Amino acid sequence: MYLSPNEERALAGEYGESMQMAYRVLVALGRLSRAEKLIPIKWAHVSGVSYLTIGDYGLEFLQKVSSSKGTRFKVFTTVNPCGMDIENWDDLKISSDYAEKQLKINACYEKLGIANSFTCVPYQSYKIPSAGSHVAWAESSAAIYANSILGLRTNRESAVSALASALTGKTVFSGLHIDENRRPEKNIRVRLEKREKKFGGSLDYGLLGYFAGTKVEGVIGFQGVRSKLEVDEAKALSASIGTTGSSGMFVLGSREKVETIDFTEKEYEDNFSDLSSSEGGDLIVFGCPQMTIEELYELSRALAGKKFKKKCVVFCSSKVYEIARSRGYSKVIESAGATFVRDACADFTPLISSLGAHSVETDSCKGAHYMRRVHGVDVALKDSRTLVEENIA
Ligand code: F3S
Repeated sequence: MYLSPNEERALAGEYGESMQMAYRVLVALGRLSRAEKLIPIKWAHVSGVSYLTIGDYGLEFLQKVSSSKGTRFKVFTTVNPCGMDIENWDDLKISSDYAEKQLKINACYEKLGIANSFTCVPYQSYKIPSAGSHVAWAESSAAIYANSILGLRTNRESAVSALASALTGKTVFSGLHIDENRRPEKNIRVRLEKREKKFGGSLDYGLLGYFAGTKVEGVIGFQGVRSKLEVDEAKALSASIGTTGSSGMFVLGSREKVETIDFTEKEYEDNFSDLSSSEGGDLIVFGCPQMTIEELYELSRALAGKKFKKKCVVFCSSKVYEIARSRGYSKVIESAGATFVRDACADFTPLISSLGAHSVETDSCKGAHYMRRVHGVDVALKDSRTLVEENIA
């Protein structure tokens, strides 16, 4: 792989240990993928933020990197949600031991220079570079959304490779950065002919993505769906594809002449049964991926003047929360009895256990998948309208 003289010097350790580590990671990945070079990026999005996922080893590693003299992120960098609401963790019964570790992790990222929000929907809060720009995003749901909806170019980065890209401002020129790798490998055709209800909404697209992720490793071509999706639909589709497979991109309305797999009532029902283990739950969870401002608007409309009959938590970034507050949406949602959890991940947080939930109701396929596995709770999967209608008075 070609390296510029400056990149060679960084790899030799002339710019410090952290920079050397970052270049080692990129060069190793470049050699594995037989890439010809590294390329500059406009944006890095780093995962590996919740203490529940990275633990003490991750914290020690970040402390080492961030304390290395002069080490700062070289490009605009956002980070994934952390494992708790940074301001309100105490009220939400998160232990002080856990909170202390989480705050140390956050401090490392802040020292390295991150944008002021912890989010898995970074495309909601910051200016999007022009289509075709190269970025390096970890968090599969965001990376898939970036490639498929925003026209950005990124591979599905790991926590470590995205960190290396943030430190160097570069990524490996391979995979989805290259034009010819962005064409569908297989098509998934939606054929729900016997179904009365029109296909649409985040639950339907979540189930489609959950299925498609298991069937296609490369770029997924979709047929039989609208060519333009609502934000919540595209977000749910991206998140579910990322949950079950390695695909990093989809194309709506594919005309590629490749193998085509049908998604019929049977596939819909099978995937629904895999994810939904219960009829109801004692806690409602909205926001995996974190809620967008459009979703908060819809939720506030549905909840106006109503009260939840059970506990409900709503996950969003603090940046989106601020917008919701300024527009009055958060006031309506909080008046209905819901609690906002800002900057946290809905699944990789001790919150579900600390609230004593044994079963959860959610509209998110990704959330259902991880909450069952991480917290051992039963999950009732329902579309957001049903979740509200069944649980308000
Ligand atoms: Fe976001 Fe956590 Fe779900 S990072 S996509 S809320 S698993």
